Amino acid sequence: MANFFALIPAAGAGSRMRDELPKQYLPLAGKPMIYHALRTICSSLRIVRVFVVLAPGDDEWLRHDWSEFSGKLVVLQCGGATRAQSVLNGLQGARDISAIGDGDWILVHDAARPCLGETQLDKLMDELAGDEVGGLLAVPVADTLKRSDTSSRVACTESRENLWQAQTPQMFRYRLLVEALSMTGGATMTDDAGAVEALGLQPKLVLSDARNLKVTYPQDLALAELILRNS
Ligand code: CTP
Ligand code: MG
Repeated sequence: MANFFALIPAAGAGSRMRDELPKQYLPLAGKPMIYHALRTICSSLRIVRVFVVLAPGDDEWLRHDWSEFSGKLVVLQCGGATRAQSVLNGLQGARDISAIGDGDWILVHDAARPCLGETQLDKLMDELAGDEVGGLLAVPVADTLKRSDTSSRVACTESRENLWQAQTPQMFRYRLLVEALSMTGGATMTDDAGAVEALGLQPKLVLSDARNLKVTYPQDLALAELILRNS
């Protein structure tokens, strides 16, 4: 039986939030943003250990109390220059201190998606546990899509048929994920599935919903707060 582990990359600077404090620590519903994702993931009885990947110079983490997760959470201060590099460093660091098998599942979840629900998390694990490749939570694109020219004028309307927005968690077996991220060097990949796709594999899309939004811009915070307060 494969075990489930989670890895939370939290080594970004949050430049699009335009705040000095990296966004994973911005206050959200009375806690630092990353707390919410950690709570949902650490509460899952199926996930045996949760690794959080911080930037090497992070001096904010220790300003908060994480003791409620102490049985499950492991902090790795080995973030890299890109998300992919942070995930890869984290995978290597995790194996240095834990017995993780090649076939064990790793759920990679962004610290910047605080509204992940227990139902979505369980659905992902249920639907992929027997899968050959692995996959990710995602939502079919609902809006009409326009492609622009260089002066913000519509060049054309794109079909949204079969288009999905990728979310996290993204769930792959340890060895495949390390291999995929090492091969691509993580160069331009903004998610883990992209690296796996580059190996010629087809990750499975598991239907999620818009509540699992990523906080990217300042205005996303209020929406995330509303979702958390109503869930
Ligand atoms: N991340 C990381 N290491 C990096 C860059 C990003 O661990 N070098 C993490 C972020 O902390 C976040 C997740 O990857 O939890 C998703 O990235 P994103 O939303 O792009 O966050 P930032 O890179 O911090 O934000 P921005 O791109 O606006 O600077
Ligand atoms: Mg980024």
